[in-house]
Amino acid sequence: MDYAQFLRRVPKVELHCHLEGTVRAATFAELAGKHRIPLPTSEVDSLYDYDTIEAFLEIFGLVASTLIDEEDFERVAFESLEDGQRLGNLKYREMFFNPTLHTRRGVPYRTVVDGLVAGIRRADRELGVGCRLIADVYRQDSPEVALAMVEEVLAHRPDEVIGLGMDGAEAPDPPERFAAAFARAKAGGLRLTSHACEDAPPKNIVTCLDVLGCERIDHGYHILADQAVVQRALDAGLYFTCCPTATARVYGWPDLSRHPIGGMVAAGLNVTLNSDDPTMFHTDIGREFVDLCTALEYGPEQVRSFCLNSVDGSWLDEGDKSRLRREMAAEFDALHAELGA
Ligand code: ADE
Ligand code: ZN
Repeated sequence: MDYAQFLRRVPKVELHCHLEGTVRAATFAELAGKHRIPLPTSEVDSLYDYDTIEAFLEIFGLVASTLIDEEDFERVAFESLEDGQRLGNLKYREMFFNPTLHTRRGVPYRTVVDGLVAGIRRADRELGVGCRLIADVYRQDSPEVALAMVEEVLAHRPDEVIGLGMDGAEAPDPPERFAAAFARAKAGGLRLTSHACEDAPPKNIVTCLDVLGCERIDHGYHILADQAVVQRALDAGLYFTCCPTATARVYGWPDLSRHPIGGMVAAGLNVTLNSDDPTMFHTDIGREFVDLCTALEYGPEQVRSFCLNSVDGSWLDEGDKSRLRREMAAEFDALHAELGA
């Protein structure tokens, strides 16, 4: 086993991955055919190519538009977990989905969530990969639409749905717009996170913590511009869900050895590694570990921290968390011994 194979094979938990961004190109093409949705080209893989967040979000919406029946949602949820296991030894994922990208096309919320839950339960049964769901506010929606979405999530809530998050283009729509939606989710017992400081200053992290009540931060790369916010994150033991490849592409850090993730790790922040929108950025969770850890020349000790940070930062209950942590640490240590042999 070489070091790249080791990085691929170490056991992983993922906290930042969007269901709609995990759809295989072949499945996207098949579902578009099934529902007679016209695509700009029959070479769908070539649609997965962009260098701005806006261009990416347009295709993300197109992919979402091919998901209509409950069985479509079941299929993509299952395939996405199958890919995570096959390509990166994924054990457990907390996965985002965007309810309003579906409901605004007339797909009932129940169809979305029941399909996803069926796919997740099948992956648990057949593959032994766990998954929970985080409903994402889409920032380009109005605050009223976001609040209504949260009410819908709370009204039909299988055990798999555990949290509220927020994505979309960050720069034009600051987090404070969605204070009411987050307050309602918190009152309803959902855990809270948000994309922040991906394409905006560190004050968005402060807003997410103080106004929205977020417990994790998705991305966070510009935090290093404000030492007081870094110190606050260190004091609070805040977890950051970082995504090397996607941000290398759309936020202009093509050289991973100079990606701000390196500075965040050096500052002592709790960083986790994630694939964001794996198929849509031609990556996977295994490859994120290979590419980032190779570029930054991280040894096994840092890799072990990435693996276990994700368990510690997850929203599993304490019993499941400590069991998974024990199992993953043992599997990691066995692989590490094999690497050294
Ligand atoms: N939606 C899906 N992936 C996203 C990302 N990386 N940033 C913002 N919105 C997203
Ligand atoms: Zn994301």
